[in-house]
Amino acid sequence: MNPGATVRPAAPADQARLAAWFQAAFEHLKTSSADPWFEGAVKPPEASSAHVAQALADGSLLLVAELDGTPAGFLHGRLERPYVAESPIPKIGHVSLVWVEPALRGRGVAQAMIAAAEAWFRERGIGWVQLSYQPANREAAGTWPALGFEVFRVHARKRL
Ligand SMILES: CC(C)(COP(=O)(O)OP(=O)(O)OC[C@H]1O[C@@H](n2cnc3c(N)ncnc32)[C@H](O)[C@@H]1OP(=O)(O)O)[C@@H](O)C(=O)NCCC(=O)NCCS
Repeated sequence: MNPGATVRPAAPADQARLAAWFQAAFEHLKTSSADPWFEGAVKPPEASSAHVAQALADGSLLLVAELDGTPAGFLHGRLERPYVAESPIPKIGHVSLVWVEPALRGRGVAQAMIAAAEAWFRERGIGWVQLSYQPANREAAGTWPALGFEVFRVHARKRL
């Protein structure tokens, strides 16, 4: 792990930066994925601000990373039920969005945020953490297996 990457819980003072990052993440996923479900999808900046405000207020996990003192990215996560409704596992950790500033990628920022998220989940008695990504997202497809995540379920669809 890069010794310069530090991670802390997000604070209300991070609101504007986080909103810009949430917006950048949406635009990046939209333009890089070529997913037809993104065609025509628009996220106004106010929606990103509202998304951040809710994440700051609802007790979910919202982390900010800094690299050598420079704001570098965020991780948003929450607790949820496993997809098997009958599972005796009450809750799992779900990492819903991770974003690292393009110029600061490949320096251990995501690794540091995932380690902090895993600690947050463990402190709450959680034994599993999951996330999802598109296989065509090369950064994600390179990062998550490197950080120990294994594919366990595949989504399939066809256009009608
Ligand atoms: C995916 C993302 C969060 C990774 O952040 P990062 O800070 O660059 O990742 P790290 O430097 O912590 O790398 C962690 C591991 O993933 C690997 N990795 C990171 N980027 C990679 C890439 N583009 N290709 C292959 N492997 C990669 C690293 O080598 C490292 O593995 P190692 O510990 O074995 O060396 C970042 O690229 C990003 O923000 N992408 C745009 C948004 C996005 O796609 N988010 C994920 C959606 S689910």
